[in-house]
Amino acid sequence: MTKIKATLLSALLALGAPAAYAAGEAGAPVENIDFSFDGPFGAYDVNQLQRGLQIYTEVCSACHGLRYVPLRTLADETGPNLPEEQMIAYAEQYEVFDPELDDFRTALPTDHFPGSNLENAPDLSLMAKARAGFHGPYGLGINQFFKGMGGPEYIAALLHGYTGEEKTQAGVTLYENKYYPGGWIAMAPPLYDEAVEFQDGSANTEVALSEDVAAFLMWTAEPKLGARKQAGFAGVIFLTLLSVLLYLTNKRLWASVKKKD
Ligand code: HEC
Repeated sequence: MTKIKATLLSALLALGAPAAYAAGEAGAPVENIDFSFDGPFGAYDVNQLQRGLQIYTEVCSACHGLRYVPLRTLADETGPNLPEEQMIAYAEQYEVFDPELDDFRTALPTDHFPGSNLENAPDLSLMAKARAGFHGPYGLGINQFFKGMGGPEYIAALLHGYTGEEKTQAGVTLYENKYYPGGWIAMAPPLYDEAVEFQDGSANTEVALSEDVAAFLMWTAEPKLGARKQAGFAGVIFLTLLSVLLYLTNKRLWASVKKKD
């Protein structure tokens, strides 16, 4: 019996340990960042989203697209909250392909951001939810329970995780990055101190820029995060009240029966 138990246990542990844990394969552990949208009452910081949008526009959009994000959502109150005219003006800087005209035309607010310009640069719309920063222990996801999935943390770490080493492999230049699984990424370091200037003089160190653009990418991946948290909270309050009422009703209904013994 104990033998079966031991075998079962080791089998479970083997299942739990993600393959990425093999030595040298996984990226360096990602550190938690105190984002404004963390926690049950967290919400996006509008100013941070606007800074992130500016970084995306000035730097990342040269290669990466956001093809699942409608341009009009830039005016959402729970998003970057751009004034209507500014959002329309922003949309106008993009050209999109219109299949009806069979030609390119200026983008309208109803269009989406364009897709990636570089063939091997992935679309970033959902990237913050497609990556996990925290794992384990043993695949139990306890770290994620306390810190969240860590998608934005991973992106922020990746953007300032370059070691400065590069190598060329099969004609492709690869850059060493501590946080990229495998250690070598085909993206040249996109950010550096003061890569972007903010009008309000917000911090623009490499780390600050990485966090701002990561927060913006979390918004593109989950624009309705605030609504989800609100609905969840209302649900918990409702169920708590309902439990109290049901408990009292139950007591009352059975009161006469219970008295008789
Ligand atoms: C010069 C083009 C270029 C620019 C500019 C650029 N990237 Fe990339 N990026 C790439 C390429 C190419 C890849 C794919 C790398 C690979 O597969 O090794 C990539 C991959 C990524 C990934 C995916 C990493 C993963 O885990 O798979 C993220 C996230 C990312 N870029 C974010 C950004 C952000 C944010 C910016 C702006 C601050 C940016 N990139 C700017 C070319 C670029």
